[in-house]
Amino acid sequence: MNNYNDKVVRQFAVMAVVWGIVGMLVGVLIASQLYWPALNFDIPWLTYGRLRPLHTNAVIFAFGGSALFATSLYTVQRTCHVRLLSDKLAAFVFWGWQLIIVAAAITLPLGYTQAKEYAELEWPIDIAIAIVWVAYAVLFFGTIAKRTVKHIYVANWFYGAYIITIALLHIVNNLSIPTGWFTSYSIYSGSVDAMVQWWYGHNAVGFFLTTAFLGMMYYFVPKQAGRPIYSYRLSIVHFWALIAVYMWAGPHHLQYTALPDWAQSLGMVFSLILLAPSWGGAINGILTLSGVWYKLRTDPILKFLIVSLSFYMMSTFEGPMMSIKTVNSLSHYTDWTIGHVHSGALGWVAMISIGSIYAMLPRLLGQPQMYSVKLIDTHFWMHTIGVVLYIAAMWIAGVMQGLMWRATDPDNGTLVYTFVEALNATKPYYLFRVGGGLIVLGGMLVMAWNVFKTYQLARGGIAAQAVLPPDAADARA
Ligand code: HEM
Ligand code: HEM
Repeated sequence: MNNYNDKVVRQFAVMAVVWGIVGMLVGVLIASQLYWPALNFDIPWLTYGRLRPLHTNAVIFAFGGSALFATSLYTVQRTCHVRLLSDKLAAFVFWGWQLIIVAAAITLPLGYTQAKEYAELEWPIDIAIAIVWVAYAVLFFGTIAKRTVKHIYVANWFYGAYIITIALLHIVNNLSIPTGWFTSYSIYSGSVDAMVQWWYGHNAVGFFLTTAFLGMMYYFVPKQAGRPIYSYRLSIVHFWALIAVYMWAGPHHLQYTALPDWAQSLGMVFSLILLAPSWGGAINGILTLSGVWYKLRTDPILKFLIVSLSFYMMSTFEGPMMSIKTVNSLSHYTDWTIGHVHSGALGWVAMISIGSIYAMLPRLLGQPQMYSVKLIDTHFWMHTIGVVLYIAAMWIAGVMQGLMWRATDPDNGTLVYTFVEALNATKPYYLFRVGGGLIVLGGMLVMAWNVFKTYQLARGGIAAQAVLPPDAADARA
């Protein structure tokens, strides 16, 4: 028996799967509403405008957040060779975060919102988030402070940067004056409000959806590959370059708006520079497989981790391109953005989380591996096919929308297409997205079954090999 606090890690890992299913189910529902609007059943709390923020909050903060709490608290103990600073504080962070999620799941459908994307929750919940987040910071950095090894492994640098930055972003962007229990006004106004919001929004992507998951990459890719990270030196350069550049790219969300033109250009330039550290880091992860590429043939966990990095590279190539003003004039307001978002969110964030949970969970339960390696492989293919369907549909729809909206008649300068014509042309692609989403969701249900069965084995004290099909057992050997 080790002397780590694995209870909190297990709790967060299981909740990541649960919230993943809930968040993606809401994703499939809103995707279906865009195809069949009647699916809001004329009930206010089931309308698209209320369920969309429920989807984004559930997948980012409940699913992604739980996966990050689980893996960061797992990694920090194992790389510092100490138990977490305090078990009570760990339990407070777990229950506090779950309570916040439940509060979000109630207030968002009721229509309470600050109307700031990814920061919709009203001020009492914001204060609760700040308290739980500070407790998490104390837990994480307190554990690092009492480490018994001198070195601080690079994964902890990434997790640490994310914890500090999210605290800063959350507090600054949510400063507001309450006018009731569920209403408030931001202290910022006009274009300053927009700038602060997208400084927050972009860095929520940069630090919540990227830096923290890179921490996951730096621990779980080498572990699963059974190799040291390709270049430790590159990981340090990667870290400082990413941290230095991300903060300045926010204005790419506000191209052609009332924001001063120089700020828009600054956002574009920093976004283009961001390509270098993003790819440098991803290549560091992928090349860790040097010499053991053959493992990809048989280890579906490694497939999840490495394919997630390919999606990361795709979205961090696409992002800088979309930040170029002329490209943004085509992509903005279209489903191209939604395709970009989900190649990052479903391809990178979800796949690295799923792979890491599969790698971590058996170790937490004293099992040699998950109940069924075959089912991990099934999940891998369902997820990959679902994501590709989703993002390909959105790319085609997005570029088509952009081109139809801007098409003018050369003779008299009038628009060639009405808005409704563009909408009709988009419709079939929305059906493809529903299909892709359903396949991804199906994969998550396969995962839930595998997790449940692994728990059952652990309870019964049976080793997982006993029930593995022979080919999967061979693959591991
Ligand atoms: C079954 C899987 C999923 C489906 C079917 C789905 C569906 C959707 C739909 C229909 C929208 C609204 C698009 C629009 O307004 O035009 C959306 C938005 C969004 N989703 Fe998902 N989603 C899924 C998974 C995820 C995951 C796992 C994440 C994050 C980890 C995520 C993050 C987001 C974000 C950030 C937005 C807002 C994008 C923006 O405002 O540009 N989604 N999703
Ligand atoms: C080098 C890295 C990246 C750059 C430079 C970048 C750039 C961009 C740009 C230019 C937009 C469109 C803004 C607009 O027209 O409104 C955008 C939207 C978005 N990107 Fe990225 N991106 C990057 C990586 C990622 C990754 C890895 C993810 C997810 C994990 C992601 C998530 C998002 C989200 C959620 C939005 C939609 C924001 C909104 O309007 O609600 N991005 N990104």
